Amino acid sequence: MNVRVFANELEAATACAGLVAAAIREKPSLVIGLPTGRTPLNVYREMVALHRRGELDFSRVTTFNLDEFLGLPPDDPGSFRAYMERHLFQHVNLAPERIHFLDGSAERAERECARYDAQLAMAGGLDLLLLGIGSNGHMAFNEPGENLQSASHRARLSRDSRQSLASLFGEDVSRVPLAGLTLGMGALLQARRVVLLAFGVNKAAAVTGMVRGPLTTLCPASFLQLHGNVEVWVDTAAGRGLEGSR
Ligand code: PGA
Repeated sequence: MNVRVFANELEAATACAGLVAAAIREKPSLVIGLPTGRTPLNVYREMVALHRRGELDFSRVTTFNLDEFLGLPPDDPGSFRAYMERHLFQHVNLAPERIHFLDGSAERAERECARYDAQLAMAGGLDLLLLGIGSNGHMAFNEPGENLQSASHRARLSRDSRQSLASLFGEDVSRVPLAGLTLGMGALLQARRVVLLAFGVNKAAAVTGMVRGPLTTLCPASFLQLHGNVEVWVDTAAGRGLEGSR
């Protein structure tokens, strides 16, 4: 893992948007995996700014979002789809047919997950995966536990995850859905390049576990240690457990 500690979140986010822009310039038909949450907000803002300046053309890019709440239709304001519309999709020239999302309101979750995995396989997998990490070490909705799953699946959300998502529901954690649909570990670990961002002191333990800890299903992100092309970009607060490591 290549760990890079930035002076602050904004520097990391700006660098990340620059990396995405360079990757798209090199391969205009890039297939990119996109996260939601607080972490990528500045990255998306910077990507929109680059697009407005004519420096980032999404016209041939394909996107796959990582996860969605179970039971929420795409137009629910709390959905991840609505988040992506607000923060990125509405502001750039992505072709609607190349935006891919798990549908949390699909009648049969298993079939929806199989559909999504097939769609990703048809697209050739992810060229570039942007990731956040939960304070509990989760990646997308692959939550810590006894088992991890390779394929897309329905996932029960941990208390930690629901708490950190309360802002999408007026800070009312009781309104955060209990489950989600998520890409599995397989699709994430098969991405050809991964950039994981983590900011703030409440991510420090998860970052240390991911980079330094044992491979364990109790810290799903630790499996990124097996991947040959991972950038971990943190601010000083999230990286404070890594002092002395590369
Ligand atoms: P956050 O979530 O960006 O809202 O902290 C990150 C994640 O859960 O992956």
